[in-house]
Amino acid sequence: MEGKGGTHSAIAIDGPAASGKSTVARMLAERLGLIMVNSGAMYRAVTWEVVRRGIDPSDRGAVAAMLDDVEIACGIDGMHSTVTVDGRDPGAELRSDDVNRAVSQVAAVPEVREVLVAKQRAMLAEGDLIMEGRDIASVVFPETPYKLYIDASEEVRRRRRAAEGQSDEVGHRDRLDSARKTSPLKVADGAVVIDTSDMDIAEVVEAAVAELRQRGWFEREGAEPAI
Ligand code: DC
Repeated sequence: MEGKGGTHSAIAIDGPAASGKSTVARMLAERLGLIMVNSGAMYRAVTWEVVRRGIDPSDRGAVAAMLDDVEIACGIDGMHSTVTVDGRDPGAELRSDDVNRAVSQVAAVPEVREVLVAKQRAMLAEGDLIMEGRDIASVVFPETPYKLYIDASEEVRRRRRAAEGQSDEVGHRDRLDSARKTSPLKVADGAVVIDTSDMDIAEVVEAAVAELRQRGWFEREGAEPAI
């Protein structure tokens, strides 16, 4: 059940850091009445625990070993995904500088990806959803026809992060995310690229809805009446 399992469908949204994909995913989810799943938060939660335990994020063996000793629970609260680590909610610490610095290394560990991809696929049992990340269209739901890749120039992305008051080396993180061996960031087969550098958010949402409409989202099995 990858992407169109049972009667539930998934919209996959991938793209580099600060491309606007989270905002687009959130607005689309609200507009289309879908569960919104932020897969980056899951990689951040594992990283938060790596940092908290003082594990070197570049030590793949130590990071993988930690997985046997921790409960990463992914759930849904209302229409949003949640993640806890041994019952604790990392909250705003998911976006701390320490996590920003280490997350790409932790996300490159194959065992981490294996555990989290299984949890991401399982969320489709909860209902129609929109999931954003780096490998959603290529690995998590390769069979869904609803694949969007949200991009923006590095300069624009750096400015967006700075405007949020965050110190986040987006370019560096993207190079690591794109260069890794396991499930690198890339434009998946069949994904449409939307470059948001010169678009405002409303325009991006309209472009995404138009693309989904063309791909049959509103005529799919179990669809709500067209908007
Ligand atoms: O979307 P984000 O910036 O919060 O993601 C944080 C990091 O997690 C990102 O640098 C790479 C990793 N990630 C990933 O490898 N695969 C995903 N599906 C989502 C995020």
